[in-house]
Amino acid sequence: MARKKIIAGNWKMNMTPSEAVALVNTLKPLVANDDVDVVFCVPAIDIIPVMEAAKGSNIQVGAENMYYEEKGAYTGEISPAMLTDVGVKYVVLGHSERRQYFAETNETVNKKVLKAFEHGITPIMCCGETLEQREQGVTMDFIRQQVKVGMLGVTADQAKTAVIAYEPIWAIGTGKTATTEQAQEVCKGIRECVAEIYDDATAAAIRIQYGGSVNAKTAADLFAQADIDGGLVGGAALKPDFGQIVNYK
Ligand code: 13P
Repeated sequence: MARKKIIAGNWKMNMTPSEAVALVNTLKPLVANDDVDVVFCVPAIDIIPVMEAAKGSNIQVGAENMYYEEKGAYTGEISPAMLTDVGVKYVVLGHSERRQYFAETNETVNKKVLKAFEHGITPIMCCGETLEQREQGVTMDFIRQQVKVGMLGVTADQAKTAVIAYEPIWAIGTGKTATTEQAQEVCKGIRECVAEIYDDATAAAIRIQYGGSVNAKTAADLFAQADIDGGLVGGAALKPDFGQIVNYK
């Protein structure tokens, strides 16, 4: 069965709740496309207003992070139950910005991935190399490690529903999109890695996104690649351009 594309916006630390509602109202008619899954991953405080503004549309709402404990003395964190209670279906985990600024590791990302599945939330698990790693020729080794540790203990049935986002760090927010060949090569490598961990059926089912300066011009070529099942979009998800990305065909 063909994999359904999943095109997600990662708003990062942008949009106050009132700005968020205005943006959803602008984007709602532009992102109407039932052929793809459209997900807005938004700051925690925006989740409820965005859900309300998106009611009746095809927009699904996701979180940008989540903690791996159930509840308790973890000041400032958001629990999985807090997300599911309001109907969140997706969560971005292990984004490179969280690894870089908030000391997330493959191990903590793995705990979060397991916890997300336990609560029926689909993880969008991020991976990606630095420019230095690419230049040293260790891109695939590094990403395989991120994927293997990130997915430890995840069952094949769970993995089939997961989303992995390949986001080369050097392409994030730089305006420098990876070439379609570079993006396809790594996404294919990730799928092969999933086949090694599990089996061919799991590799064929898991969805792999590309992220890093995706825009209205680059989306169509990227999403046409055999192993690229959509995108995780930062800057361009905050603009009407996101409508063109969602309707890339
Ligand atoms: P940009 O699209 O702004 O490069 O951000 C990509 C990203 O980090 C999405 O998670």
